[in-house]
Amino acid sequence: MKILAINGSHRKGKNTAVLLRTVLDEAAALGASTELLELSDMEIKLCISCNKCLTKCECSVTGDDMAVIEEKLLAADGILLGSPVYWVNVTTLMKNFMDRSRYLHIYKNVLDGKVGAALTTAGLLYGGQETTLKIMECFLQFHGLHVVDCRDPNEPITAPIVAGSLMEGFKDDRVIWRRNAADDQLLVASCKQLARNMVKLIHQLNK
Ligand SMILES: Cc1cc2nc3c(=O)[nH]c(=O)nc-3n(C[C@H](O)[C@H](O)[C@H](O)COP(=O)(O)O)c2cc1C
Repeated sequence: MKILAINGSHRKGKNTAVLLRTVLDEAAALGASTELLELSDMEIKLCISCNKCLTKCECSVTGDDMAVIEEKLLAADGILLGSPVYWVNVTTLMKNFMDRSRYLHIYKNVLDGKVGAALTTAGLLYGGQETTLKIMECFLQFHGLHVVDCRDPNEPITAPIVAGSLMEGFKDDRVIWRRNAADDQLLVASCKQLARNMVKLIHQLNK
């Protein structure tokens, strides 16, 4: 079982990467082989809207890293997307990746049937996490993936979505900031449950 995480953060190894790594480590402990792909390491040219992908499973833009990413997407049983909130949305890197993946979706849904999940983190406590997460989950659903969340089916609900914040709270008229989003124990627990839910569904689908 392979789980591929794709980080849309413009900052490699920071908050979003730490959360993705937390999910991957838990999945690895359950036997999955895992990989974290940093989009900031990749060269992905812009979609030119030529619409070649309407009639073929091909993209006319070549000579960049999209072919490498395609190979990894096809080989994965589970695809986990992570993006920090940028203006109540995914980052430019993540959106560019989404646009360029259209040739894997519009003529034929080649990623159909895989398991998908997404997580996000932001500076503010109510900074646009839910909208950003929904954008990634819709993307995965349009690609035909079965999207899971971080609900533990046997426990009362704790956090319905994996959505971090650097803002811990407010005390004596001052905001208290976290050094890293993963200092939030509830968020870490949600990441681990997300991994368990991904692994469980991949097992069920591959039976
Ligand atoms: C261009 C830009 C736009 C941002 N927009 C938002 C926003 O709309 N809401 C918010 O709460 N934080 C916003 N942030 C803060 C980031 O979401 C936050 O710093 C996040 O932790 C960055 O993730 P990273 O550590 O993986 O890079 C923005 C940051 C940048 C650079």
